[in-house]
Amino acid sequence: MDPRRARFLQALEGGPVDRPPLWLMRQAGRYLPGYREVRRAHGFWEVCHTPALSTQVALEPLARFPLDAAIVFSDILVVPEALGLGVTFGPGEGPRLERTLRGAADLAAWKREGVGERLGFVSAAVKHLKDTLAGSHGILGFSGAPFTLFSYCVEGGGSDDFVLARTMLHRDPVLAEKAMATLAEVSAEYLELQCQAGADVVQLFDTWGGLLDRTDYARFCLPAIRRITDALHARGRKVLLFVRGGMHLLPVLGETGADGFSLDWRQDWREARARYPRAILQGNVDPILLLGGSEVVRQRTRALLEAMKETDGGRRCIVNLGHGIHKDTPPETVAALCEEVVAHG
Ligand code: CP3
Repeated sequence: MDPRRARFLQALEGGPVDRPPLWLMRQAGRYLPGYREVRRAHGFWEVCHTPALSTQVALEPLARFPLDAAIVFSDILVVPEALGLGVTFGPGEGPRLERTLRGAADLAAWKREGVGERLGFVSAAVKHLKDTLAGSHGILGFSGAPFTLFSYCVEGGGSDDFVLARTMLHRDPVLAEKAMATLAEVSAEYLELQCQAGADVVQLFDTWGGLLDRTDYARFCLPAIRRITDALHARGRKVLLFVRGGMHLLPVLGETGADGFSLDWRQDWREARARYPRAILQGNVDPILLLGGSEVVRQRTRALLEAMKETDGGRRCIVNLGHGIHKDTPPETVAALCEEVVAHG
């Protein structure tokens, strides 16, 4: 097997590795010239819906950098789109949802029937990527975690604090739980389809989970995520969980049943490892560090690699960023990070 995919699979299985594998959250995106060129000719949704284009942009970072895994090019908001909420990406702005979740009638109107088929284009993209890579790299599928999807469904777009979504947790907790249970069921089905199409592992992005305190995360998020991990474990799949800003939630994250955690850059690596000695841990270079020049990137990457090696010779570790790569990142500092991992990992 190609050493890149083998290394990635070994890290997921907890086996010995020559060095920790490497991939980067949002590794395909606007910081890359090839991506920007594709986007000049095609809309964002069009790229997601066209397997050949989705694969083309997913491959660009692999051609430039010595990465060990590819992530299917898609977006977490394909799920609300498939439920009939009407998601658009206007030029230069964030996503907009036409039909928001504000009451029980809105939830009742979600188009649950046939949602798996409507998301078939993502499985097709995974399969196209898998066939093109022919085993050279590991492949990740993904979904938004229930609370993060819920947040966009309620708010109708991006927000710094998601006040409407968080208010609903307190004003109408039963509706919030129902909506999150539905999102969890759909995500579980959708992630299983990505695995069947060829994903080696799937990651849940809980980008906004860190807005909640531990009590609310335990009440609303843990059971919803548990539905997903239980369903996927029953099929022998593995699930990674990224909670942005989730440092205060670390003690309860084990209850999600996730096989591994993608750590926010603010999380101390050793602290996380001490708490979860057997979990896969991924992360957690600060994406903004990559705007600070190659030298500081090299230093901090080496420090992270040292922390990884302290336990079990670096087993169950994956080098990544602590959140998605920033659009203004110079490709040179990404190359510096990758070189350090290859040379010193
Ligand atoms: O990692 C990869 O290369 C795969 C691609 C990927 C995208 N979105 C492509 C994308 C992944 C894994 C996502 C996940 C995603 N989408 C998250 C969770 C991860 C995170 O970064 O927190 C969230 C919250 C979204 C929702 C979303 N999609 C927003 C808020 C936006 C607009 C803001 C922005 O960054 O542009 C998007 C659009 C989006 N998704 C782009 C890309 C490359 C930019 C679209 C463009 O070309 O203009």
